[in-house]
Amino acid sequence: MPSPATHARPAAAPARSGAAPSRHLLGLQGMPASELRRRLTAAWKLQQLAERDPHGLLDVARGRIVANIFFEDSTRTRTSFAIAARRIGAEVVELVGSASSVSKGETLIDTARNVAAMGVDAIVTRTKQAGGAASIAAALDAFGHNCAVVNGGDGRHEHPTQGLLDALALAEAHGRTAGFDLSGLTVAIVGDAVSSRVARSNIAALTTLGARVLCVGPAHMAPQSMESMAPAGAVRVMQDMEEAVGLADGIMMLRIQFERHGDGSASGPAPGAEAPKKNAPIASVREYRAGYALTAERARGMKPGAVVMHPGPINRNIELDAEVADGPRSIVMRQVTLGVAVRMATLAESSGGGVEAMP
Ligand code: NCD
Repeated sequence: MPSPATHARPAAAPARSGAAPSRHLLGLQGMPASELRRRLTAAWKLQQLAERDPHGLLDVARGRIVANIFFEDSTRTRTSFAIAARRIGAEVVELVGSASSVSKGETLIDTARNVAAMGVDAIVTRTKQAGGAASIAAALDAFGHNCAVVNGGDGRHEHPTQGLLDALALAEAHGRTAGFDLSGLTVAIVGDAVSSRVARSNIAALTTLGARVLCVGPAHMAPQSMESMAPAGAVRVMQDMEEAVGLADGIMMLRIQFERHGDGSASGPAPGAEAPKKNAPIASVREYRAGYALTAERARGMKPGAVVMHPGPINRNIELDAEVADGPRSIVMRQVTLGVAVRMATLAESSGGGVEAMP
């Protein structure tokens, strides 16, 4: 007969060797500069190894299993984590929210606990709810599962690997990969920052690394309160796009998050659509573009060396003109490439032996 104590103590996943207690990556807010720099340096090291041997598999996570559990749509993030896991030798299990028992009423936490109980080393999760990844991590810790949680985006709250890859791409573009000190650089984050987990993670990382952030957009998308997200003076909210374009060393364009404004549309209105919906975040695409799009004409006012960024998905010719997205200043595809390196480093740390020990 099992003792009552056995019942009280929930069954844990098989213990795995070399595991530290907290290897979760839940957000960048509050992460010290030293920790950001350590993670960026590890990712940069992996990027250089990958460039030297594009088809080589590093085996820092050989034998480990990573589960991708996404309860919200994703193209880049999900694929990037899967590729990153394989490139460090781990196996990937894919679970799609709509095809899982969450659609039968199971909670996120129960789903994650079940997957953890099968013996996975790391769960990468994307949830509609802010705090989703943190709740899963807390539950897995409380029940003794030895499984790291990596936040692949939780509601409007955080998207830490996106923040890291953006910092890495910006640092590379400006020759700051030795030490990742971004002081003296100004980054404009333009558009629907208030709805954006990408903006929150970026504000945290960029300001901690020394950059100044300009949040540019109409007041309901870039409210004054965003200035309180970083130490005084590090974030400035402004409405004048021309001024911001002239100041920035990097311009990060954001998609209007129509699905988070309650109009029910995941992709937003088609270009040229003018009729505002109830609760629509903008009066018209034409008006929004007039104020805040990075058009080809505006891009001509950028500083020498300044780069154009976008986390994707791009709504071409709404927030960003196609010719700018594909033009010489754009590092959008480089962001995507570096995203794999950031996720390799993240998963190596969360599921495997880490990067420091590597050659
Ligand atoms: C973003 C996201 O899902 O948070 N995309 C991404 O992960 N690269 C941004 C967006 O959806 O607009």
